[in-house]
Amino acid sequence: MRLTLKALCASVIQSTLLYVTPAAHASEVEVLHWWTSAGEAKAASVLRAGIEQRGHQWRDFAVGGQAGISAMNTLRIRAISGNPPLAAQIKGPEITEWARLGFLRNLNDIAEAEHWEDKIPAPLRDVMQYQGDYVAAPINIHRVNWLWINLRAFEDAGAAIPHDFESFFTAADKLQQAGYIPLALGGEPWQVATLFDTLALSVMGPEHYQQAFLDFDREALLSDGVTKSFSLLAQMRPYTDSDNLGRNWSDTTRLLIDNQAGMQVMGDWAKGEFLAADQQEGKSFTCVAVPGTEQAFSYNIDSFVFFKPNNAEERQSQTDMAEYLLTPQFQRDFNRYKGSLPIRFDIPLPNGDTCAEKSRQAFLYAEQHNTLSPSMSHGLSTTRYVQSAIFDVINEFFYNPKQTPEEATQALYRAILSAQA
Ligand code: GAL
Repeated sequence: MRLTLKALCASVIQSTLLYVTPAAHASEVEVLHWWTSAGEAKAASVLRAGIEQRGHQWRDFAVGGQAGISAMNTLRIRAISGNPPLAAQIKGPEITEWARLGFLRNLNDIAEAEHWEDKIPAPLRDVMQYQGDYVAAPINIHRVNWLWINLRAFEDAGAAIPHDFESFFTAADKLQQAGYIPLALGGEPWQVATLFDTLALSVMGPEHYQQAFLDFDREALLSDGVTKSFSLLAQMRPYTDSDNLGRNWSDTTRLLIDNQAGMQVMGDWAKGEFLAADQQEGKSFTCVAVPGTEQAFSYNIDSFVFFKPNNAEERQSQTDMAEYLLTPQFQRDFNRYKGSLPIRFDIPLPNGDTCAEKSRQAFLYAEQHNTLSPSMSHGLSTTRYVQSAIFDVINEFFYNPKQTPEEATQALYRAILSAQA
């Protein structure tokens, strides 16, 4: 079906394009992603512009929601029906899963021609490869362990920016007394898991965090650090707003932009929302590391894979897109809107973007001290299957005040054990 329909589409498009543009290998490029918020959409438009400038037609396969969970479910259906898009936003160990099933194009020719080994930081190369071959193109470095501060609310409430959890709760009390939502949190499993993720990184530290959520080490998972992380999550519960069920992350960031909430724990894609709303960093908002994670870097790397093409035109359009992703222009413009760091460290950061500067410094420090931590809540430390088992335990605990941190710790260990079986 795909072949005939696709071939038919391609020939119609190609004949049109050949009439309109001289591009010898123009074709329609369907790209699956989940960037649908204001900031994300601006970033995605940079990708679209680059593909069109290379003479191809952009077909937007945007599936928003749940930080990619909805997109991945849709992609599985398309792939099983033999009709995957040409390119898809897939990241972390999930890349290996798709490669192992034989769906993905080998990108070694492009990686070699474009010197990817010189452009991609060494700790981030492996996850883009399967059995030593490049099968994904990385495009950015998001830092997850950020606490976003609404400076206007803090000033109004007479609150000080937190530097540890004691000062976090002092500020939360002041914000609450002044009528603000102290900690904006969207009621989606991945958002509660993102909060827990950063608390665990803070309480356990990078080394023990990785033993627990990357190695699934029994002792680390059953350690006091995990129990304390659940205790901290429970302490935060009364500072979040109750009618948040199903609220997506960008509508939650909007609560800070609209001066209704004081803080949000979220990756720096939230910065893209502040900037898209013309907020000034240092005036209406700022960013600090989640207390206790100042020297840690919970990384979330967005990347694209390319499903095996049907013909030379599709292959060429994939090559054009993959080459574009690591150009200085795309790296500069896309990441400025997205709130992430370029994957390339030779790209200058936007003038005056102190959050980006802090992020780059934190990455370099963590890289030098071997404390870079793949984010569990954003699918960098494990597959979506194990991740969803972890999400279930965290959300069961968060929404069930009767469950103790000790019970949650045991439940988490059992869930990971059974998900791996
Ligand atoms: C993450 C993704 C980011 C950001 C976020 C919210 O999983 O890697 O690029 O978009 O979801 O949608």
